[in-house]
Amino acid sequence: MRVVMVGTGYVGLVSGVCFSDFGHDVVCVDKDEKKIEMLDAGGIPIFEPGLDVLVSKNVKSKRLSFTSDLSEAMKNADAVFIGVGTPSRRGDGYADLSYVYAATEEIAQNIAASDAPFTVVVTKSTVPVGTGDEVEAIIAKHVDPSRFAVVSNPEFLREGSAITDFKRPDRVVVGTENEKARAVMRAIYRPLFINETPILFTTRRTSELIKYAGNAFLATKITFINEMADLCEAVGANVQEVARGIGLDKRIGSKFLHAGPGYGGSCFPKDTLALTRTANEHNSPVTIVQAVIDANNQRKSNMADKIMRTITAHHGGGDVSGKTIAILGLAFKPNTDDMRDAPSLTIIPRLIEAGAKIRAYDPESMKEAKPLLPDIEYLDNAYTCLEGADAVVIITEWDEFRALNMTRVKALLSAPILVDLRNIYRPETMKAHGFTYSNIGRPV
Ligand SMILES: NC(=O)c1ccc[n+]([C@@H]2O[C@H](COP(=O)([O-])OP(=O)(O)OC[C@H]3O[C@@H](n4cnc5c(N)ncnc54)[C@H](O)[C@@H]3O)[C@@H](O)[C@H]2O)c1
Repeated sequence: MRVVMVGTGYVGLVSGVCFSDFGHDVVCVDKDEKKIEMLDAGGIPIFEPGLDVLVSKNVKSKRLSFTSDLSEAMKNADAVFIGVGTPSRRGDGYADLSYVYAATEEIAQNIAASDAPFTVVVTKSTVPVGTGDEVEAIIAKHVDPSRFAVVSNPEFLREGSAITDFKRPDRVVVGTENEKARAVMRAIYRPLFINETPILFTTRRTSELIKYAGNAFLATKITFINEMADLCEAVGANVQEVARGIGLDKRIGSKFLHAGPGYGGSCFPKDTLALTRTANEHNSPVTIVQAVIDANNQRKSNMADKIMRTITAHHGGGDVSGKTIAILGLAFKPNTDDMRDAPSLTIIPRLIEAGAKIRAYDPESMKEAKPLLPDIEYLDNAYTCLEGADAVVIITEWDEFRALNMTRVKALLSAPILVDLRNIYRPETMKAHGFTYSNIGRPV
């Protein structure tokens, strides 16, 4: 199959390279010429484990190439995937579909100018219900409806494990009622049949909604356990044991029951918000999702209060003004450089507002973080970050923070205070090391 991927961000680049690794001929297109130049020169614009090796392997085998020229890329294409961003629209929280529609317009003009008998246009971006209809209408202005079909094929990969997620997904969802388009999608995903991956064929609207319903459900699960963690703190229970106790129930499942500082990232915040907008528009409000959004927003700022409370309690009063706080981890989760809606972006400004000075270290996201958090000092490793700090806060659970030498940590800090927003250390161990230790939902 000849596949074109429009947009080479986290989803487009990973999907494109994995399709080429399946044996298809793939051209990845991006309007950002710098990105294309970098990819052509063998560089990778994002951090995603294993991506560099897979890209270079498939470029060498000549199944994968990059360009900013869509018309060149679309020659003889069987399917054109739209993998551009759909961020929250400023001000109202609706999904901003301007990138999707701009890409669609270009794709339409290229199909019209070509003699391709049939092209499948696939929305891989996360798009609200009904967007496929609009994409179809845009193309139909230029092209006879017999020459194309619009399919919804939402992506479920997670940053940090994107390649495995793409190659071994729990399921693939394909939304179309067009038989020819189904056959093309079947051929594209055929390599996954070997692993017996369920491929769910459904209508386009249902497929679009599956993506939002999935993300909203996961965000709800996280928010639920976060609220249980607060309750655990209030009543002296242990949230990790509560999570295990309920997670062993197969109807509930143990995934996504890790209490923390609130969900962030490029998907959950914007997708939950967009879902509430779609629901309200159709007079069918999703009140649970709205409650999740409110609780999660509040939680991020509560985390700053928790940090300040821990520091002042250690000193028996006062505030954090003039104190230096070392932050380990800035990205919204480990194994990514993505800073979109990361909890650190709420927590750190609140600490600065309260007069604290911030030193920070993250293994991969500091380049992304610098323009967003300009008023902090960036250090090049965890231990130098701690030097002379009045407290340390773990915001992102990178592996390299899981086994810090606590004797060394204590010696570097000017006060032995550790706030562990990911519960990666044990309260007993930290107590034995003489730390004032604060965590999420476990007795200390
Ligand atoms: N990031 C994730 O983990 C994830 C997971 C599942 C689904 N999604 C969804 O996938 C979509 C893409 O997300 P992302 O994180 O990869 O976005 P991203 O911002 O990393 O990448 C989008 C890319 O599209 C390019 N682009 C925009 N308009 C273009 C055009 N007209 N022609 C060519 N290129 C164009 C941009 O230059 C950019 O490189 C979103 O809808 C998102 O919700 C993301």
